[in-house]
Amino acid sequence: MFQNDTFTNWTPKHSALYSRQPMRVGHNLHASPLFTDEGLADLIERMPRSHYHVNFMGAVGQSSKTWREGRIEGLSGRDVLSAVRNGQIWVSLQRLEEIDDDYAAMLDQIYSDIEDRVNGFSSYKQSLGLLISSPKAQVYYHCDIPGQSLWQIRGRKRVYVYPNTEPFLTPQFMETIVLGETDEEGMPYEAWYDDYARVYEIQAGDMLHWPLNAPHRVENLDCLNVSFTTEHWANDLRASYAVHYANGILRRWTGAGELARQTSGMGLYAKMGFAALVKYTGLQKRHQRRFRIDFEVDPTTPTGIRDIPAFDLPG
Ligand SMILES: [Fe+2]
Repeated sequence: MFQNDTFTNWTPKHSALYSRQPMRVGHNLHASPLFTDEGLADLIERMPRSHYHVNFMGAVGQSSKTWREGRIEGLSGRDVLSAVRNGQIWVSLQRLEEIDDDYAAMLDQIYSDIEDRVNGFSSYKQSLGLLISSPKAQVYYHCDIPGQSLWQIRGRKRVYVYPNTEPFLTPQFMETIVLGETDEEGMPYEAWYDDYARVYEIQAGDMLHWPLNAPHRVENLDCLNVSFTTEHWANDLRASYAVHYANGILRRWTGAGELARQTSGMGLYAKMGFAALVKYTGLQKRHQRRFRIDFEVDPTTPTGIRDIPAFDLPG
């Protein structure tokens, strides 16, 4: 049987489901001192500009047009927490393993506990990002490129997880993402997709994991939310990425319609080689992502933000 250190109720069922079906399992990381108000405030104050995003968004039911990027300037960590608690913002602290040894150790422990439990699972380039978000904030329909899990620390949210197959996720759309032509949030979405989603209402101590690239969206309930995501790469994930990359290039160069998507065998090796050649020789122009910053976090306003003259930040 398992040791159950990170996880509280992992059973062989979860080992069988991992990366194949959406799944929920219990964890005990919400009890860590890293996630007290003091711990979070201290972390916020130590974040370099390269490692955070702050977004303003509409409440549940509003369209994605209200998504904006901002900055944190001249505030204490406690001020930022207060703006999130009372406003409509989403603070994302990224790649914490590069910033803080305690987070790096937690990330290592998490993946070692999963690898102990899932036969044949081996990952690399793991990363951890913390999300502190306002009551009723939402994240729109999107998918992520690496393998990903969501860990709930405080508050409650509803998470919709959709199949990673057509029509919810098309190969053509994945190709535009891996080629950097669009970001993951620009994904086409229809309200009826929800009929095909698994819907989870999660609280502190819940972890969700879903199959690679499965689209999802999130609605916070009426409370401050603290969560983190872990993401990773593995050989099969890298193979899938290379196939999307190569197919995207081939489609653009040749106008081909149907392209093979096998992720093993000779076709795969040829495509991995081709993807590497194109990517590292610069044959395909990389689209540089930029962020337009047009607000500052401000705990004294009802929304938690204040407009500033817009400027661009390289992605
Ligand atoms: Fe996501």
